[in-house]
Amino acid sequence: MPDIAVVGPWAREKLDALARYLDFYTKVLKNQPWRTIYVDAFAGGGQARIRKDAAPASEVIPLFELDTEADADQAELIDGSPRIALNVANPFSRYVFIENDPKRCAELEAVRREFEGSREIDILPMGAAEGIEWVAAKPISRSSHRGVAFLDPFGAHLEWASVQKLADTGIFEVVVNFALSMAIQRMLPNSGEIPDAWAKTLDAYFGSRAWFDEVYRERSRGLFNSGGYEKREDYAERLLQLYRARLKSAFGHVSTPRLIRNSKGAPLYYLLWAGPHSKGLQGADYILSMGENLGPKRRKSAAS
Ligand SMILES: C[S@@+](CC[C@H](N)C(=O)[O-])C[C@H]1O[C@@H](n2cnc3c(N)ncnc32)[C@H](O)[C@@H]1O
Repeated sequence: MPDIAVVGPWAREKLDALARYLDFYTKVLKNQPWRTIYVDAFAGGGQARIRKDAAPASEVIPLFELDTEADADQAELIDGSPRIALNVANPFSRYVFIENDPKRCAELEAVRREFEGSREIDILPMGAAEGIEWVAAKPISRSSHRGVAFLDPFGAHLEWASVQKLADTGIFEVVVNFALSMAIQRMLPNSGEIPDAWAKTLDAYFGSRAWFDEVYRERSRGLFNSGGYEKREDYAERLLQLYRARLKSAFGHVSTPRLIRNSKGAPLYYLLWAGPHSKGLQGADYILSMGENLGPKRRKSAAS
């Protein structure tokens, strides 16, 4: 497989947490009357290779990247989120894989053939926003359906409007990759002078301009400075809590964040769960805390 995605070793942590949660979720719903749906809005191709070397020197690493490394064939092959969901002991009634890269879609088609007859699979070769709209427009309702959506973009390409659409169905729980260090922080220069395109991306991601005041404050005018903006010291924590608060108001419950770090210990992103049921919250908090998280001090200050 010459062009399969290559991931850092930390992807395993994310996928383990997802596998545990999907197992918990499908067990709880096993004897319930609802049809269950799994939506993977940034699905990938279904498999990836774990990078052998811990991390390139720069640490500026996309989670998934094309395999151009000579030794990639020897790297360990792991199941990506679509296969993890397909292989849960109590399968979902239906799987929807959304992916905008044609190569990954071709890989997903092979996955569909492999599971033909045993799993109902839709592959949507389009952007996540469009795919989620397709899902939300289906005849699904609280009386007949329940679902989980995994929202795992490379960076800040997840639009809040899509998350809100899933919440509005009343049937979905979401597991979100909140790409704070991998994407969002890189769009926040110290000066506060943010290029329009980045500001628009962040507006779409957070669903409003509220992120700006969480990151920047006006610099006091003095002898040696002429005003402008400066970054707050705790802006990263503030952004995390802003996003958690939005999830809580949209879904009802939001989990404690699970921080995923790279192999050198630098923070990469957070996994967050949100959903309409307290039982889901208990399960998610338990599963996401099986590993590193923000710790008791910060958890206390987090919006609960
Ligand atoms: C981080 S990877 C997904 C990994 C996968 N969830 C897993 O854990 O195995 C992100 C995937 O989303 C796809 N992608 C990026 N932007 C997208 C968008 N706007 N809509 C749909 N897919 C997108 C990329 O091609 C890539 O395959």
